[in-house]
Amino acid sequence: MTSTDHDPSAAPPHPVPRTVRTFHPRRGRMTGRQTDALGRLFPAYGLDVPDGPGAPVDPAVLFGRAAPVVLEIGSGMGETTAVMAGADPDRDYLAVEVHTPGIANLLDLVERRGLRNVRVARGDALELVRRLPAGSLDAVHIFFPDPWPKSRHHKRRLVQPAHVALLRDRLAPGGSLHCATDWAEYAEAMRDTLDADPELVNAYDGFAPRPAHRPVTKFERRALLAGRPVADLIYRRR
Ligand SMILES: C[S@@+](CC[C@H](N)C(=O)[O-])C[C@H]1O[C@@H](n2cnc3c(N)ncnc32)[C@H](O)[C@@H]1O
Repeated sequence: MTSTDHDPSAAPPHPVPRTVRTFHPRRGRMTGRQTDALGRLFPAYGLDVPDGPGAPVDPAVLFGRAAPVVLEIGSGMGETTAVMAGADPDRDYLAVEVHTPGIANLLDLVERRGLRNVRVARGDALELVRRLPAGSLDAVHIFFPDPWPKSRHHKRRLVQPAHVALLRDRLAPGGSLHCATDWAEYAEAMRDTLDADPELVNAYDGFAPRPAHRPVTKFERRALLAGRPVADLIYRRR
């Protein structure tokens, strides 16, 4: 499949207005180390994703090779991306985040660990996904997405039917969509949404056993200490 085989602006069945954001606007201070990493490494390993129509993104060009691609949406400080990419050198990891200190932190980890299979996109993941070729992803990871617990904010959730349809379109047949959350009600809603997609099949019977390859991050440790168990969901595209 090449980037010419699809229309990257193809709309999902029930598009969510692009003004409805799935992230909280937040500022964050950067350490000196992060500022330095961002300045030096973003030009080589980073990709800006502005809002609105943009050029298609061809992962083979971005990584300089044709390997299976894992997209991690909302990579936070990048701990999970760095660990998983380091343990999986035959696949390429494309992390996308809006939070600049997190992007900078991941770039620093990439350099310190000598990772060659990581690229970091800065911007709204949904804009990036719209620019990726259909069938171009081997896996999509969504770990601890913002839960948006109030019902009036549910429209801001990442895992909702229109977004799932878009992500599933970018997965190759057999590719996986892996979500994890510590928010019980969101976990149930995620499972219902993923079950309802006719092109996705649950790889397990309901929630998945915690996969050992997903590292325990600070975020997960905090959830466990607060008594919120974590649920994993792993689906495959037919
Ligand atoms: C609760 S944090 C979890 C971070 C990380 N996955 C972890 O496990 O520590 C959710 C992250 O998703 C990011 N995010 C939410 N919606 C996003 C979007 N549409 N595009 C890019 N990043 C997004 C937020 O900026 C935030 O850093």
